[in-house]
Amino acid sequence: MENPFHGKRILITGGLGLIGSNLARRLVEQGAGVLLLDSLIPEYGGNLFNIAGIEERVQVNISDVRDEHSMRYLVQRQDYLFNLAGQTSHMDSMQDPYTDLEINCRAQLSILEACRKYNPQVKVVFASTRQIYGKPDYLPVREDHLLRPVDVNGINKMAGEWYHILYSNVFGISACALRLTNTYGPRMRIKDARQTFLGVWIRLVVEGKPFEVWEGQQLRDFTYVDDAVEALMAAALSDQARGRVFNLGGDRVISLKDLADLVIEVNAGGHYVQRSFPAERKRIDIGDYYADDSCIRSTLGWRPRVSLREGLSHTLAYYQEHLPHYL
Ligand SMILES: NC(=O)c1ccc[n+]([C@@H]2O[C@H](COP(=O)([O-])OP(=O)(O)OC[C@H]3O[C@@H](n4cnc5c(N)ncnc54)[C@H](O)[C@@H]3O)[C@@H](O)[C@H]2O)c1
Repeated sequence: MENPFHGKRILITGGLGLIGSNLARRLVEQGAGVLLLDSLIPEYGGNLFNIAGIEERVQVNISDVRDEHSMRYLVQRQDYLFNLAGQTSHMDSMQDPYTDLEINCRAQLSILEACRKYNPQVKVVFASTRQIYGKPDYLPVREDHLLRPVDVNGINKMAGEWYHILYSNVFGISACALRLTNTYGPRMRIKDARQTFLGVWIRLVVEGKPFEVWEGQQLRDFTYVDDAVEALMAAALSDQARGRVFNLGGDRVISLKDLADLVIEVNAGGHYVQRSFPAERKRIDIGDYYADDSCIRSTLGWRPRVSLREGLSHTLAYYQEHLPHYL
């Protein structure tokens, strides 16, 4: 059967990060022409090793989505834009709110302006986040839940998301957004907890050191990166996704303590210590969260296919093999 991405030109912003690089692998396999844009700012998730093995089959442009001149040029002639570049640390957004504003909000508007002026035919999928809901009023959280972010990152991602929807509604650019929950897998940043706390857990467990679980009763859902990639591709291809937002969830809901136990079980070893939340983290914690993702399931036919146990097993195996590239 003809592959819909075969021969298509695809730009992935944040293409050297966790989700972008795994998406690039899938698209290259399918015969797409892939251009990865990434700033490789050391505190963020980009890593050239993430494209090991496909480096000859993708184009890489080390630039910054805040650079309007680069964006104006790079969006041209693309069929699809997966817009994944982002500052992901909630704590960093509280300590340096302006950088988060520039990347997650202002640059998003200028990317869309570049599309409007130079490539209005492009189909855009934006990586939004469950963080924009803030502390949930009910569970599981549906897309129509009040948006009440608890940190600067959440506010800027919310604005970035809504610029996409507005440009779709008003200017006819085909854009949609996926509200991702904790997404994990091979090629995530594990150096520290800037991308996800699970990253630093994985690093420490692979290094044979104890990791910290803060409290532990909080409920969460997790999407394995391959499932997130499937959702992004399905959203790009569907006319029904246009102008819409969709939650992504995982195969199960789990407390952080049970997750820690599962990591250790899958790794066949390791230990952790439980402690209370550091005060500055507690202030921006969202408590329990898990998504109602029935909307994307019914509209796009997506569902998570990789179980948490299986996903953790792939992830641990990857970092056992490649740890030095991620330190
Ligand atoms: N992983 C998750 O749990 C999760 C959850 C919710 C939302 N998201 C969103 O998904 C997107 C991709 O996240 P990820 O998990 O792959 O994280 P990631 O940090 O691995 O990828 C983001 C990439 O964007 C790049 N980047 C950052 N600022 C940039 C800039 N100014 N110009 C160009 N590139 C820049 C980084 O270098 C990195 O490679 C992000 O927008 C993030 O907010 C991720």
